Amino acid sequence: MSATIIDGKLLAETIRQRVADEAKRLGITPGLTVVIVGEDPASQVYVRNKVKQTEAAGFHGSEHRLPESTSEANLLKLVQTLNNDPSVHGILVQLPLPDHIDPDLVIRTIDPAKDVDGFHPINAGKLAVGQDSLVPCTPQGCILLAKTVHPDLTGLNAVVLGRSNIVGKPVAQLLIQESATVTVAHSKTQDLSDVCARADLLVAAVGRAELVKRHWIKPGATVIDVGINRVADGLGKSRLVGDVAFNEAKEIAGAITPVPGGVGPMTIACLLANTLKAACWAEG
Ligand code: GUN
Repeated sequence: MSATIIDGKLLAETIRQRVADEAKRLGITPGLTVVIVGEDPASQVYVRNKVKQTEAAGFHGSEHRLPESTSEANLLKLVQTLNNDPSVHGILVQLPLPDHIDPDLVIRTIDPAKDVDGFHPINAGKLAVGQDSLVPCTPQGCILLAKTVHPDLTGLNAVVLGRSNIVGKPVAQLLIQESATVTVAHSKTQDLSDVCARADLLVAAVGRAELVKRHWIKPGATVIDVGINRVADGLGKSRLVGDVAFNEAKEIAGAITPVPGGVGPMTIACLLANTLKAACWAEG
């Protein structure tokens, strides 16, 4: 039997609409500023999409484009200016940054109350101890997608494949909050495929194209694929694939997110939700 394909585009659209309606009802215009340094084409596309969807929700979106040669001091100065601008409720500095800029220092300079990425150590700490905070967007999206299949995640055996600060660790924290039984697996895990094959819910976030094969998946499991990997298609072009070998995985999983159209659209929807939350805090 073939798996249910979880439609991230549709759920993201519902969330964007809900967030837009809520801002209207509250009579506030949340403001999101995205900062991009350099010319990385993939980052340019992501940033354009973020600003476009921000405006489509009726929010105020703005973009600061800085050249690759921008100094760290200059970027920090811009972040501080945005911290002090009351019309800016959310600040997102697009990653990766050029090598001469320390991303941790930049993240730590963002006002935690405006850190809509949820990357600031204050927000990471609040998430870890279960306090209300700005939660990283992709992990939030993963949980919402999993809940379309399992409205209650209590007691589920969840395996998170990947331990990054941006996805793996916060997904694990959120799953613990949802009372799942959580295993974090990664490149050094012994018998990795066996560990994954015990999961009722598998979240793959390692950035390795089609690493997760059919035999890594428990029959009927729910698979959330966070990977976005560009691979050659053999015809001189490229295509996007996830961390899961989708065609074989969908023959054994109970439900699975596609790439594209799964987790990706949820990230921006959750970013808008975070921006609204930050605006509500600021507007009291
Ligand atoms: N680069 C790729 N994904 C992200 C993200 O979610 N936030 C930021 N700031 N940069 C990214």
